[in-house]
Amino acid sequence: MRVLPDTVAGRTILVMLISLLASHLLSVFVYHTDMVRRVSSTSEHALAERLLSAKGLIEIAPPAQRDAIAHAVSSRDETVHWMVDAPLGNGPGPEALDSLAGQIRALLPETSPSDLRVAYEQAPGLDARPSEGSGRILASAKLKDGSWVTVTAPPYGDHGLLSSEAAISTTIMALAIIAVAAAMVRFLTRPLRSLAVAAERFGRDVMAPALAEAGPRETRMAAKAFNGMQERIRKLLNDRTQMLAAMSHDLRTPITRLKLEAEFVGDEDQRKRMLRDLDDMEAMVGSTLAFLKDGVDAEPVKVVDVSTLVASVCEQMEDAGMPVVYHSTTSAPLSCRPMSLKRAFTNVIDNAVKYGAAAHVSMAQDSDQYAVLVSDNGPGISLDEQEKVFAPFYRVESSRSRETGGTGLGLSVAQSIIRSHGGEISLENKADGGLLVKISLPKTVPTVDAA
Ligand SMILES: Nc1ncnc2c1ncn2[C@@H]1O[C@H](COP(=O)(O)OP(=O)(O)OP(=O)(O)O)[C@@H](O)[C@H]1O
Ligand SMILES: [Mg+2]
Repeated sequence: MRVLPDTVAGRTILVMLISLLASHLLSVFVYHTDMVRRVSSTSEHALAERLLSAKGLIEIAPPAQRDAIAHAVSSRDETVHWMVDAPLGNGPGPEALDSLAGQIRALLPETSPSDLRVAYEQAPGLDARPSEGSGRILASAKLKDGSWVTVTAPPYGDHGLLSSEAAISTTIMALAIIAVAAAMVRFLTRPLRSLAVAAERFGRDVMAPALAEAGPRETRMAAKAFNGMQERIRKLLNDRTQMLAAMSHDLRTPITRLKLEAEFVGDEDQRKRMLRDLDDMEAMVGSTLAFLKDGVDAEPVKVVDVSTLVASVCEQMEDAGMPVVYHSTTSAPLSCRPMSLKRAFTNVIDNAVKYGAAAHVSMAQDSDQYAVLVSDNGPGISLDEQEKVFAPFYRVESSRSRETGGTGLGLSVAQSIIRSHGGEISLENKADGGLLVKISLPKTVPTVDAA
């Protein structure tokens, strides 16, 4: 089970929420206990005072008037009684009333403690002691003649820790925190998303523009480091490309020379073999140069209908006498490099014709990508070869011996073109034999600004 939210924003909000709620609850708790303490202390003092004054008044009145006086000094909440008998209970009283007992003793210092009582009112018919704080409080003092005066007061009040007001204020605060934090954190994590998008884009296109070095220091540092890395990789790739291009180019001259010289080889068989090898070498050098050139001069991006583009590739190949069938009704507008895409499709369809006798091409799409499907009825490619065929110059053993005449660059060129469009190319052996090549192209490639 996932406990933490997935995003940095989510986690930051969670941490803020927990700490703010904890501090809020703590302050509510502290405030509440303090308030309860003050309220009880004040009520205890008032009760003790009332007992003192009632005792004084009743003590000096004749017994016949004592009931009336007790009634007269009663208030709505606190009632005063005068009784001849001692009130129930004679112990020190419940612990919760200790501080009340103390206050009464302090106000009536000349009365002996055994002549003072505090207790909770016993509900009639109930044997059990009422629980603390629920029953009314009785405070009694003995008069000089042995009768008792008792003051009854309501309990100090049972204030729940979280009143509904506190619950509402906590909830409103939590919601406000979520709203504010969500906006702020999204803003703060934006550079992180830009970095992720930039890294993804760089993986597809080494010529991708540098990341803006803005925002807080850590972000600027990360962007700077990323740009530096991108620059070094680009330079490294460029150097290698230049070197390969120079080598391939320089090889052409000796190959041409060798071809001329081979013409003078006396043995007919040997001459043919040498010329064939030299032709192969020339073709390899030629396609290597073409391959390297692809990466160097990037074609401008245009919006074209990929379906029409595939159709035109198929048509051209059909015209050249190749068995290619294209079937699609989809319209597929895409912002892409059309000439490069055309080369990628040509390479894949050419393979289907060369190794699978005929190509069936179709198109499909879902909400966020197009798919070009090329299938044939040839031998397919074994699973452990499927990864390798994308490597430059790799050809499956059986193709090397056959007279299909390729250099093994077709699929690697196609793959790098498709990847530079943010897509993928995958191979699959069909259940009824033959290879199915799936080329997926996302309708939109994420940009740094959209992050
Ligand atoms: N449709 C297919 N059916 C069977 N094998 C295939 C198919 N497509 C490619 N292959 C195998 O994958 C290898 C690599 O293909 P790739 O297109 O990269 O090179 P190539 O066709 O040999 O040469 P090039 O395309 O440069 O002329 C091929 O040599 C072939 O063995
Ligand atoms: Mg090929």
